[in-house]
Amino acid sequence: MKAARCTTYGPPGGIVVAEVEDPEPGPGEVLVRVHAAAVNYPDVLIAANRYQVSAPLPFTCGSEFAGVVAALGPGVSGPAVGTPVSGGVFTGAFAEQVVVPAGALRPVPAGLDMVHAAAFHVTYGTAYHSLVTVGAGAAGEWVVVLGAAGGVGSATVDVATRLSMRVVAAASSEERLAVARTLGAEAGIDYVRENLKLRIRELTGGTGADVVIDPVGGDHAEAALRALRWGGRFVTVGFADGRIPRIPLNLVLLKNVVLRGFEARSLRKYSPDAAAAGDAALARLVADGMRPLVSRVHPLADVATALAGVAERRATGKIVIDMEKGEMEEAA
Ligand SMILES: NC(=O)c1ccc[n+]([C@@H]2O[C@H](COP(=O)([O-])OP(=O)(O)OC[C@H]3O[C@@H](n4cnc5c(N)ncnc54)[C@H](OP(=O)(O)O)[C@@H]3O)[C@@H](O)[C@H]2O)c1
Repeated sequence: MKAARCTTYGPPGGIVVAEVEDPEPGPGEVLVRVHAAAVNYPDVLIAANRYQVSAPLPFTCGSEFAGVVAALGPGVSGPAVGTPVSGGVFTGAFAEQVVVPAGALRPVPAGLDMVHAAAFHVTYGTAYHSLVTVGAGAAGEWVVVLGAAGGVGSATVDVATRLSMRVVAAASSEERLAVARTLGAEAGIDYVRENLKLRIRELTGGTGADVVIDPVGGDHAEAALRALRWGGRFVTVGFADGRIPRIPLNLVLLKNVVLRGFEARSLRKYSPDAAAAGDAALARLVADGMRPLVSRVHPLADVATALAGVAERRATGKIVIDMEKGEMEEAA
């Protein structure tokens, strides 16, 4: 089969498509024929060996996919061959086939095609749980979303708006803020050119935000935290900026701020009920028409370009690799 191989750690340009042996499912595993796979920021970090956990060389890149069950390993009773599934792996998704533990597969929410199913669970799960499960966001509250045109950010704007929260989007250009507005953001702040703290206070009528969702980190985190109202909630989700903020705790104390983190894999392990409630809530939103924003669809041959779009901060929404496609498509 064809697979996107990383043979030396480094930037996306070093990743090449090569023929490798077809994988076989072992005990407890399922073989999936991959139809589409989404690019996530950690894929770039893993290829560069800058992620928390190293992937031993050589390996196949990619962590999120949608496809169809092709074979069951010993001891596995389902899902049946032919069932559409999506799932996550540490590496291996940018390939024509992937082997995963049976427990790591999820049904494709009704209404999502393979490209949108591949782009859904990581960003929308992160959006829902950081907003609701951890952030306790409620209808009518002001939510500030940093990196609002990115994968997690755009999903967060979408979910928050659909749950009747009022969104202030923050991003690095007017063009990127326009993307967040199409998803329902009421207001936008260009955090490169404007004062983030002052603008959040102005836009929320002087009281400050109820919730901040932060997948970016760097200097923007403290500025947004300073613009929370008394008792507001700050949820740290990721550090796309590359710099992990060091927050002075007096800021947390003075305004009774709640500072919390969200991490998708550990939620499923430590709080399966919350994970199941999130899946059900998201399935309802999909049934109402919610779809991830997919801005580009590449064939597997363009995997390096697809990863570079995320690595170089050019992506809006999600970039997806479609195993069935021969040429790149740009969404209208
Ligand atoms: N906690 C979890 O479970 C979880 C789940 C998924 C992802 N994450 C993490 O969340 C972060 C965002 O993931 P994502 O998939 O949304 O990534 P993404 O699609 O690349 O979006 C990240 C956004 O961050 C902004 N940004 C600011 N400084 C940047 C820089 N120096 N380089 C790149 N982007 C920069 C960019 O928007 P502007 O240009 O508009 O600033 C970009 O749109 C990553 O750190 C990822 O690992 C965490």
